[in-house]
Amino acid sequence: MNKIGIIGAMELEVAQLKLKMQEKQVIERAGMKFHEGVLNGKEVVIVQCGIGKVNAGICVQILADIFQVDAVINTGVAGSLRSEINIGDIVVSSDSCEHDMDVRGLGYEPGIIPQMETSFFPADRTLVDAAKAVCAEVNSDIAVYEGRVVSGDQFISDGAVKDRLTATFDGYCAEMEGAAVAHAAFLNKIPYVVIRAISDKADGSAHMDYPEFERAAAAHSAKLVENLVIRV
Ligand code: ADE
Repeated sequence: MNKIGIIGAMELEVAQLKLKMQEKQVIERAGMKFHEGVLNGKEVVIVQCGIGKVNAGICVQILADIFQVDAVINTGVAGSLRSEINIGDIVVSSDSCEHDMDVRGLGYEPGIIPQMETSFFPADRTLVDAAKAVCAEVNSDIAVYEGRVVSGDQFISDGAVKDRLTATFDGYCAEMEGAAVAHAAFLNKIPYVVIRAISDKADGSAHMDYPEFERAAAAHSAKLVENLVIRV
């Protein structure tokens, strides 16, 4: 993988990585600033895409068309969907799906995108395995899980919604961009992985925990990514 696109939705998810890179140029497209340069010896394009699935999908398309990246990494924070996954822990995507895709009215199962080859986009095995190994080395104080990342244009802060996402999709964490990155990467035949640190439990306590833990969680994810690019 010669050139890697690194996407975070929010500034705090990419700030640390931008500080560590040697920047060559910044190109603006669709209101997003693409920082092209070298991170730990690897050619990268780091970009803050903004929140939600549409922003994330557009961002990947630009990374594919303009920058011709060989892989895409989505870094950031997420709400845990499982009791054993604690705030600060990391989830590396096995695959991801859009939990708010709902065509049940026409007989489709929840999350299924009609007329698509798949709605559960598998992450790249090399990136997943490398991310888990690097996490064990650089974030040895926290647990790393591999599992499904479920994404939708919703902040999940209700225990009943959380339980539905776990029961329906077997989700490990919920966030708002990963599956859109995955979907766009799939259409462009680009390997991807989503790496998310847990900032909250996606239940009634999320509105309190999220502001307290988002910064530390984002830093965990970024630390993993800056070490991952060396390995792939
Ligand atoms: N990102 C971080 N926490 C989240 C949550 N609870 N729901 C959606 N996106 C998130």
